[in-house]
Amino acid sequence: MLSGKRILLIIGGGIAAFKSLDLIRRLKERGATVTPVLTRAGEEFVTPLSAGALAGAKCYRNLFDLTDEAEMGHIELSRAADLVVVAPATADLMAKMAGGHADDLASTLLLATDKRVLIAPAMNVRMWLHPATQRNIAALRGDDVLFAGPNEGDMACGEYGPGRMAEPLEIVAAIEAAFGEGPLRGRHVVVTSGPTHEPIDPVRYIANRSSGAQGAALARALRDLGAKVTFVTGPAQVPPPGGVRVVAVQTAQEMLDAVKASLPADAVICAAAVADWRVANAQASKMKKDGSGMVPALEFAENPDILAHVSQLKTGRPALVVGFAAETDDVAAHAAAKRLRKGCNWIVANDVRPATGIMGGTENAVTLITEDGAEDWPRLPKDDVARRLAARVADALGARG
Ligand code: CTP
Repeated sequence: MLSGKRILLIIGGGIAAFKSLDLIRRLKERGATVTPVLTRAGEEFVTPLSAGALAGAKCYRNLFDLTDEAEMGHIELSRAADLVVVAPATADLMAKMAGGHADDLASTLLLATDKRVLIAPAMNVRMWLHPATQRNIAALRGDDVLFAGPNEGDMACGEYGPGRMAEPLEIVAAIEAAFGEGPLRGRHVVVTSGPTHEPIDPVRYIANRSSGAQGAALARALRDLGAKVTFVTGPAQVPPPGGVRVVAVQTAQEMLDAVKASLPADAVICAAAVADWRVANAQASKMKKDGSGMVPALEFAENPDILAHVSQLKTGRPALVVGFAAETDDVAAHAAAKRLRKGCNWIVANDVRPATGIMGGTENAVTLITEDGAEDWPRLPKDDVARRLAARVADALGARG
């Protein structure tokens, strides 16, 4: 059910636009509030009157309509929704989205929104297969835009192939999935991710090479199963996924504080590469060469261990606490010892010997250490490892009540 959910529906210009009227009806039947927006080309196929009447709401049309702007600015309009849906998403609209254009109401809303965007592409098969569109699809996927379809089949133009807009009920199913009607619905999961930066002085710091890719993939997979995710991230290279609460931190101490402030949680997953030490004698002013040839000596102090802290909480310990371990030999034995030392429920151990090509690569070979022993997982893309782990988290939380 989509009861109470607010959907901003952007209707692009394509023959499939007529199906968007049915989509409005289906969404309304399920209790959603629909605010339609027509692009100029969309108006060639659907009238604002029919879209507005079916939605039972004002149909917005043009960025420069001053009356509309007085009623509700485009920033506000783009954020008042819980989800932005584009159906049909034409090749042109997708190109605008991928390029970050904002030259009409629809593209401006798409650029200004802080909500997730789901698109239902519809276009001629050649246009879909064109390298330019394929580049845009990759860019949009990278921006975490969700896709419903397109389907393969006979097209209005007489050709056959991918490019036909998904059916309204398929789009409804994708919308429901975007709202996380999954097994982790109602569960709160905290994920730590990325490296930490430990200051030496206001302009210098100590860091590590973690990209934050595995943590971001995990947060995305948990979100896709319906979890409310708090993503506590150090300064990572990979952007955080949409639809999660992002808490950006720099240091290990800030990461610990942010995790503590995020509790209670059903699960905490520590995927961050936390610096083990901070600089104890960090300077408040930039350190200068004084010409004497003397080099500064850094003193180190141990950082708090976030995973151990959460695992050993006396009150309010999450039902499931998961850590990661990077190992080069005796993977299962070292990881099992680490699980006991830290007091977490599971350890996800990576075999990071250089020969595996895992460090910096797109795949991961993982051994999951639980209270029941060690499980070797096959070598999988990092996204698949994340999805598999998220499914295990859902299973465990289900069993733990
Ligand atoms: N961790 C943490 N806080 C720290 C250090 C580590 O939360 N200050 C978490 C990491 O997020 C990860 C796990 O603990 O989940 C890794 O433990 P760590 O002891 O750092 O092990 P390794 O990095 O694998 O290395 P080593 O065993 O060599 O210490």
